[in-house]
Amino acid sequence: MADLQKRLTALPPTLRTMKTDYASLKSQVRNFSDFYGAAITDAKKQISAAVSEMSEANKDLLEKYRKEVALRRKYHEQLVELKGNIRVLCRVKPVLKEDQHEEGQSVVVTTDPNNESALSVLKGQGRSHNFELDRVFHPQATQEEVFQEIEPLVTSCIDGYHVCIFAYGQTGSGKTYTMEGSTENPGINQRALKHLFSEMEDRKDMWTYTVTVSSVEIYNEVLRDLLSKDGEKLDIKINPDGTGQLHVPGLRLIEVKSFQHIKKLLAQARRNRITFGTQMNQHSSRSHALLMITVLGTDLASGAKTTGKLNLVDLAGSERVWKSGAEGERLKEAQNINRSLLALGDVIQALRGKEKHIPFRNSRLTYLLQDSLGKGNKTAMVVQVSALESNVGETMCSLKFAERVCKVELGPAARKIQRGGGSHQCDSNSPS
Ligand SMILES: Nc1ncnc2c1ncn2[C@@H]1O[C@H](COP(=O)(O)OP(=O)(O)O)[C@@H](O)[C@H]1O
Ligand SMILES: [Mg+2]
Repeated sequence: MADLQKRLTALPPTLRTMKTDYASLKSQVRNFSDFYGAAITDAKKQISAAVSEMSEANKDLLEKYRKEVALRRKYHEQLVELKGNIRVLCRVKPVLKEDQHEEGQSVVVTTDPNNESALSVLKGQGRSHNFELDRVFHPQATQEEVFQEIEPLVTSCIDGYHVCIFAYGQTGSGKTYTMEGSTENPGINQRALKHLFSEMEDRKDMWTYTVTVSSVEIYNEVLRDLLSKDGEKLDIKINPDGTGQLHVPGLRLIEVKSFQHIKKLLAQARRNRITFGTQMNQHSSRSHALLMITVLGTDLASGAKTTGKLNLVDLAGSERVWKSGAEGERLKEAQNINRSLLALGDVIQALRGKEKHIPFRNSRLTYLLQDSLGKGNKTAMVVQVSALESNVGETMCSLKFAERVCKVELGPAARKIQRGGGSHQCDSNSPS
């Protein structure tokens, strides 16, 4: 009992200590939550400051990036401008094994390793004819080298320009090789499309793009859709919307999302071309094949829109068939081909000479390409020639054609044409 009494007397101080401890604990808890709250607020402040700093830096970076892109585009424009909006290039086909079984195998076309614009054709008795074009590719030039020259034009299509690239030359001179190429070594068409898609990918933070493709063939002044199963015949009409723009009712326009998809369409167009023509080689050499790509761009920030067009054209063979006594259907074909190549030459010459009247309406080809060939657009013509003596007549005609569309002076940088001695009768542009 005494023990209990003793314990009870000792209890109040313990209780008091406990009470104080409790009070201190309570205040600590309160302080802790105050401190904790303040720390959180502080951390929040710091984080949001860092975030806004980051987004400022990001904005700054994006701004710099935009400026960089704009600058790059400007320089690129200047480069294209400097080189001229119409470029005439020449590619000399290498002498292949299969070309060597004929007579006249000696090589008469030479390029100059020190001058990328010069070309010389030996015409017998030691006489030669010199040509000067915007760029000459020697026979060993690769597909990539040829494409490099075209690349700025392809890029400007994404910026909203209309671009035409033509391959001109006699049958067998390498037009299809230059445009389509082989599976292992593709030509301009595939390289251009690959470049288009990779450029669009690079710009995807600022722009969205829609790409549509159509493909037609012009044979005997008749237009056929190469992406329709039955090769539907088409007509060119003035758009009823009053804009004066041309359109082709019924023409298949296919939206493509990837380079792989385009490759499939190219293969389909090629197959259709074979089906429509009874004899592939002859048919393809007498028709123009066009691949037309439209790129619609939207600037994500401003909503501004651009429409670029890329027309890739494998022209009909430029050889003078009526010379070999062609009659009837064949003569009509020859005249039609010739008329349209002549019309194309006239249009390009008029454009390069900055003439007021451009004769677009003289052929289906120039009429169809009117909105892509006109002022402010860009064109490259790749003139293909054979180096062999047996083809010297056609080679001279092709080079005369190239020279005709090339020799007009362009802007402030005056072109100097050096003419070699000798003359060559060439009437490849005037069927009679
Ligand atoms: N630069 C080249 N390198 C290798 N082969 C070529 C080259 N140019 C043309 N050829 C080949 O020559 C042949 C005729 O060329 P092609 O492109 O069909 O002529 P075109 O379309 O002008 O009638 C084809 O077998 C093609 O592969
Ligand atoms: Mg061909």
